[in-house]
Amino acid sequence: MSSLAITGIGALATCDASLGSGPLGIVEDATLVVDAGRVAYAGSAAGAPGGTDGSVDVGGRCVMPGLVDSHTHLVFAGERSDEFARRMAGRPYEPGGILRTVAATRATATSDLAVHARRLAHAAARSGTTTLEIKTGYGLTPEHESRLLAVARGITPEATLLGAHVVPAEFAGDRQGYVAMVCEQMVPAAAGVARWCDAFCEEGAFDVDESRAVLEAARRAGMGLRVHANQLRPGGGVALACDLGAASADHCTHLSPADVDALAGSATVATLLPISDFCTRQPYPDGRRLLDAGATVALATNCNPGSSYSTSMPLALALAVRECGMALDEAILAATRGGASALRRDDIGRLSPGARADAIALDAPHPSHLVYRLGTDLVAGVLRDGAWLVPLAAG
Ligand code: NIG
Repeated sequence: MSSLAITGIGALATCDASLGSGPLGIVEDATLVVDAGRVAYAGSAAGAPGGTDGSVDVGGRCVMPGLVDSHTHLVFAGERSDEFARRMAGRPYEPGGILRTVAATRATATSDLAVHARRLAHAAARSGTTTLEIKTGYGLTPEHESRLLAVARGITPEATLLGAHVVPAEFAGDRQGYVAMVCEQMVPAAAGVARWCDAFCEEGAFDVDESRAVLEAARRAGMGLRVHANQLRPGGGVALACDLGAASADHCTHLSPADVDALAGSATVATLLPISDFCTRQPYPDGRRLLDAGATVALATNCNPGSSYSTSMPLALALAVRECGMALDEAILAATRGGASALRRDDIGRLSPGARADAIALDAPHPSHLVYRLGTDLVAGVLRDGAWLVPLAAG
């Protein structure tokens, strides 16, 4: 079947303000027609074209774009709940914990890593995510990073090389040697496989010069750039991201006025990861300040075993509204259009003609219920590329 009409939509949140009312472009009593995996029509039921190959009635539910999770680290082995427990008792987050996951990941077969990553991706889909970015960063040799990249690419085209996550134990006395190896061996090995390259620019990880060297090598190899920036303390990560024209500066928890101005004056998206701030007991990023300054803001989960073991975009939405000063509509746009911008994509995050038919049906009258009814599973069905990834629940 190539064309399908989704009918009986109580409210269609297109996330395209030109198609309906308010910032979410809401159309009431709507129909969505998909053809060959793309949106062919999104509008009132009364004006919908006929002649599709089939139709599905969603029974008055709300339909919105699938959520875009533009920052995850899904390929890993093991878990670090002991660190989480210590942090909940008041101990700080330490990037060094990453090395425990590196050891576990290196010791695990690629097929087992793939099974685990796919389970996490399925859990993400169950909570409404239709696009995932996935980083490496728990292999830290060209061979292991290539294994992780292959697993990531089996799940998403949005695969990111994160060789500059931390310096591995075997290079403990030779940071310079590690950075050179990443630039000269790891990046070339990932070229053509990774769409993106990221660097963890933070005290305890890589400084600005080291991060710049890796990111410039990646740019020469044809990759787009992303930066873990200003997560644990103020620093130069955001300025570096904006200076290099990175697609996204992620975390943005500790920003100076100059950082906010730089983000507002550039195409670099500020990606907020409030679940990790919850799990590391960090302050929350000031989404309000960024939006008021004119920056583009995205929300993502940062799913990883150390600082944020969650695939739930609805949880990120709830924290953004409660703790980052974002209005409900702003948070929903950040989790859809914002995530798309952070991946430099205009074919996702909205339900307008020509966009990918990535949509979710909610057991709710409006997307705001994802936050209002926090902790409740409202996702009744998930459509990706026009096919049911999570079949529509009965009723
Ligand atoms: O974004 N900051 C670097 N990477 C992850 C943490 C990974 C880990 O602790 O295993 C993050 O928080």
